[in-house]
Amino acid sequence: MKKFGYFDDARKEYVIQSPQTPYPWINYLGTQAFFSLISNTAGGYSFYKDARLRRITRYRYNNVPIDMGGRYFYIKEGETVWNPGWSPCKTKLDFYECRHGMGYTVITGKKNDLKAEVTFFVPQNYDGEVQQVVLTNEGSAAKTFKLFSFAEWCLWDAQDDCTNFQRNFSTGRVEVEGSTIYHKTEYRDRRDHFAFYTVNDTVDGYDTDRDSFIGLYNGFGDPQAVTDGKATDSFADGWSPIASHYKEITLQPGESKTLVFILGYVEMKVDEKFEADGVTINKVKAHAMIEQYNTPEKVAAGLAELRAAWDKLLGILNVNTPDDKVDRMVNIWNQYQCMVTFNLSRSASYFESGIGRGMGFRDSNQDILGFVHQIPDRARERLIDLASTQLEDGGCYHQYQPLTKKGNSDIGGDFSDDPLWMILSVSAYIKETGDWSILDAMVPYDNDESKAKPMLDHLTVSFYHIVNNLGPHGLPLAMRADWNDCINLSCFSDTPGESFQTYTNPKFKAEGGYSKIAESVMVAALFTYVGPNYVGILKHLGKDAEAAAAQAEIDKMKANVMESAFDGEWFLRAYDSNGEKMGSKECEEGKIFIEPQGFAVMSEIGKEQGADIKTLDSIDKYLNTKYGLVLNNPAFSRYYIQYGEISTYPGGYKENAGIFTHNNAWIICAEAYAGRGDKAFEYYSKIAPAFNEEISDLHKTEPYVYGQMIAGKDASRFGEGKNSWLTGTAAWNMVAISQYILGVQPDFDGLRVDPSIPHAWDGFTATRQFRGATYRITVKNPDHVCKGVKSMTVDGKAVDGCIIPDLGSGEHQVEVVLG
Ligand code: GLC
Ligand code: GLC
Repeated sequence: MKKFGYFDDARKEYVIQSPQTPYPWINYLGTQAFFSLISNTAGGYSFYKDARLRRITRYRYNNVPIDMGGRYFYIKEGETVWNPGWSPCKTKLDFYECRHGMGYTVITGKKNDLKAEVTFFVPQNYDGEVQQVVLTNEGSAAKTFKLFSFAEWCLWDAQDDCTNFQRNFSTGRVEVEGSTIYHKTEYRDRRDHFAFYTVNDTVDGYDTDRDSFIGLYNGFGDPQAVTDGKATDSFADGWSPIASHYKEITLQPGESKTLVFILGYVEMKVDEKFEADGVTINKVKAHAMIEQYNTPEKVAAGLAELRAAWDKLLGILNVNTPDDKVDRMVNIWNQYQCMVTFNLSRSASYFESGIGRGMGFRDSNQDILGFVHQIPDRARERLIDLASTQLEDGGCYHQYQPLTKKGNSDIGGDFSDDPLWMILSVSAYIKETGDWSILDAMVPYDNDESKAKPMLDHLTVSFYHIVNNLGPHGLPLAMRADWNDCINLSCFSDTPGESFQTYTNPKFKAEGGYSKIAESVMVAALFTYVGPNYVGILKHLGKDAEAAAAQAEIDKMKANVMESAFDGEWFLRAYDSNGEKMGSKECEEGKIFIEPQGFAVMSEIGKEQGADIKTLDSIDKYLNTKYGLVLNNPAFSRYYIQYGEISTYPGGYKENAGIFTHNNAWIICAEAYAGRGDKAFEYYSKIAPAFNEEISDLHKTEPYVYGQMIAGKDASRFGEGKNSWLTGTAAWNMVAISQYILGVQPDFDGLRVDPSIPHAWDGFTATRQFRGATYRITVKNPDHVCKGVKSMTVDGKAVDGCIIPDLGSGEHQVEVVLG
């Protein structure tokens, strides 16, 4: 068992000491509009807002070898050619280190006493990636060497770029001005944006045509121009435009040279696109952008500003527990990942191509849960964007493209869980901010302003979309899928290539597209978990009759679940479209599923009959493994046409009995809710990435962020992580650890502190900024219990219960004693 680096908590960095990590370990640069993915060997790509429609640099997914394409610096000294990040030349380095930090990455390589340290970041409010290269001669003799930079342009639409070669091989266009290379494909015609790659120094040559630089039969690891030791001053005209600077450098012993490169993106007004000749790019904006970061001093200031912004964001919630790994997850990496999932939903990672999916409705609403305390204003804007894609009957488009903000009609709607997540996210926003005015904001349906209604109306139609679509047992219809994209009870697909998510069997046409028999117990339980938030909102607004009506629906749903969906020891997963039970002890495979259980427990369905504890114990008995909780058990060993995609995965992978970490969090929350802090923490620590650092060679993906899945016990690669970064796991585990285990939970009336921790802990402290005030919370656990607030004081005064009243400003000491 092996690790490949270490956490540097003081600097909020993960330090990678070997370029050959078990998978590329990446970071994200940019949090606003310009984004880059960067691996520990400088692979990756950049885009503006939308990874599909505004791809700036090219990347080859599923390439052999892995992770080819990125921003590369080639150094040629004598006959030795190397990269500071090792790849793509793979020349053995004398020293290598990659530091992934909050919005920046520093890669350092050394070869034959020449050190190259490259800092990559996207400054605040800036549409470009800054790359500062510091070259130092650490030897005792003068050194003369050559430096080549490299970036490959993407022709903007990433989907078209990797398919439409008959056209694309003839459209590429560039312009060169001094040390700046401009990429302007299609700018003459219908586009009003271009990109540039520049360096703050003179150059001794350049290349803008890929084949001239690399050589038709070479790879990134042995570009012809570098081998030849000289740029060719090539000019791209069709084929593949690139940008490469070439510079000869001499350094005396001990001497350093700093160069600042910028990869930038510019949008122009249509009537300001060109200079007077009507052909040349108007570079006024580009020049101004270059001016902003063309010296090391400006770069240092930009980095300092970025660090300050992150320190501020991470200061909103900060904890000190008996476990360092918990602290580094809560204080640094989990919050950082929540920002990334908020920004990118499931669009662009090393497992998501940026082409297939934009912003998911259910995904983005859940992402808010982990992000809202960081920048509530951006959460509010997102909530409105999401709600704007909702339909008047409460259904919603499953996805939208970030650039257009329009619902994606290729994928459509009818995912049964979607509307509920919006009630949860809007409630989380109000609980965090106390900003009830969001409920009055006028929000369109189907992006049609003429159909705008107050946000509250969107919550109402969301709630009643469930109530109005019930099946024979009074449980919500499953539709195309519920949270589990791979339980497709109306699909019955026997034709290769059909999408399980969008295809529904023609036999359901007459019924409106999907089975009116198949029901989701998961959505039923989610409804009873989410519904009380809607009731709480109505009560706050004094709409008592509506609140009572909604509560009656929740109560009825709970009764229906106990009547038809409790299997004796746990809750069923669904009724399929033949009316047969799914996830029952009577089933041959897939007898128990994870998804409904946590929500049912937290809604106290059947609590008086002990259903909650029985259910939690069943999970422990049937789903618990040493690496986390599997999604279902036993795994499906054959294709069940009536269930859909779930049974197409080999056992132990993805939704077929993989450890789907997202829903592990729901059980962590439920165990904490039930007061079983030891179990909650056991499950938490099995999947929290920092706890798996020691087994990085097995776990494979980054030890600082969650992945969507860890292979389950039925898989030959049991314990192997996959699909890192873009997963609802980030938000939900942030909720699980901070709001349920540590128990610092925003509520409509104020900040609740009701921990459910390992009994062995003596307590912990937390700082929480909340609605203008800062609370310094000390939790003491003298009796070594898991849960139970014995007393609470705020600024020395006793408070009834465990909710800190809303003090609005200032700093306050809160002491909580468990017992
Ligand atoms: C993926 C999807 C998410 C879905 C989950 C389970 O994480 O992004 O929407 O809920 O898989 O299928
Ligand atoms: C989700 C699921 C995945 C499924 C995909 C289809 O990402 O996790 O298993 O293949 O949705 O869109």
